[in-house]
Amino acid sequence: MSDHTTSAPVGAAGRFTFPGSQISVHRMGYGAMQLAGPHVFGPARDPDEARAVLREAVAAGIDHIDTSDFYGPHVTNHLIREALHPYAASLTLVTKIGAWRDDKGGWILDRSPDFLRRSVEDNLTRLGLDQMAVVNLRMGGPEDDVAAPMQVMRQMQDEGLLAHIGISTVTAAQLRAARDVAPIVTVQNHYNLVYRTDDAMIDALAEDGISYVPYFPLGGFSPIQSAELQAVATALGRSPQQVALAWLLQRSPNILLIPGTSSRGHLRDNLAAEHLVLPPEHLATLNALAKA
Ligand SMILES: NC(=O)c1ccc[n+]([C@@H]2O[C@H](COP(=O)([O-])OP(=O)(O)OC[C@H]3O[C@@H](n4cnc5c(N)ncnc54)[C@H](OP(=O)(O)O)[C@@H]3O)[C@@H](O)[C@H]2O)c1
Repeated sequence: MSDHTTSAPVGAAGRFTFPGSQISVHRMGYGAMQLAGPHVFGPARDPDEARAVLREAVAAGIDHIDTSDFYGPHVTNHLIREALHPYAASLTLVTKIGAWRDDKGGWILDRSPDFLRRSVEDNLTRLGLDQMAVVNLRMGGPEDDVAAPMQVMRQMQDEGLLAHIGISTVTAAQLRAARDVAPIVTVQNHYNLVYRTDDAMIDALAEDGISYVPYFPLGGFSPIQSAELQAVATALGRSPQQVALAWLLQRSPNILLIPGTSSRGHLRDNLAAEHLVLPPEHLATLNALAKA
């Protein structure tokens, strides 16, 4: 449990080993996107606090941090390097590629071969690494071709720029097409207590030993609003965010969490979710909250 002045050690929810790899991470991780400025664009609101969040997360045992060069752009990668380099051998940094930011903060998708390669090289340079442990290919929509950019990912894997490949914002059909090109160790898609489009995918991935990393685990830009969630949280004496994260941990053993926060207070709150086991009557209430 958190003593509210520092984060409780992580680990209560166990570990996960990415398939075909030596990489084992705690199921509770951290997503760095919230460390960039408003709208994930520009410098951190409070760079000292941002670095303190990263250091406290790692001190608590977080060994899986999700980032991207398009957060800021470059802001979260710079902060991670400033706060944590030289990295502990146990720390796995996972980045994603497939987009860049224009000068107004727009998100421009690009999965051309040259751009994908340059993106991995830029992540390596900014993070101060020789090889990325895992790189997620960020898709843009259900009609996008997966095979061609996956061939580029595979080529970069063969060259040693990245050790393992993940994929993000994919349909089941796109995931099948990606796995035809190269092994996938992780899928990162939108999923949470109320948004559950991927239920069948999560179960199928669990059978194959592949991790599923939900983005927007707390609702992201639209925080989960639910009277029932609030009632369960009140009954358990926990925050709704802890309950939402605990529900994800109980949903499936292949779910790895990367909740995002820019504050140590929220980090402490989130990490304490590992110590919350939801009793059956509350689980039933929460299970009924799916809206999609
Ligand atoms: N693959 C993709 O396309 C994709 C897309 C989006 C995100 N991601 C990744 O997924 C990670 C998680 O998603 P996310 O950060 O967008 O959304 P999230 O984790 O669902 O929610 C983050 C929001 O919740 C707030 N928050 C966090 N902990 C809280 C707490 N205990 N109490 C109250 N409010 C709390 C944060 O504000 P404060 O900063 O004030 O705590 C922030 O506004 C990101 O950091 C990023 O690494 C990936």
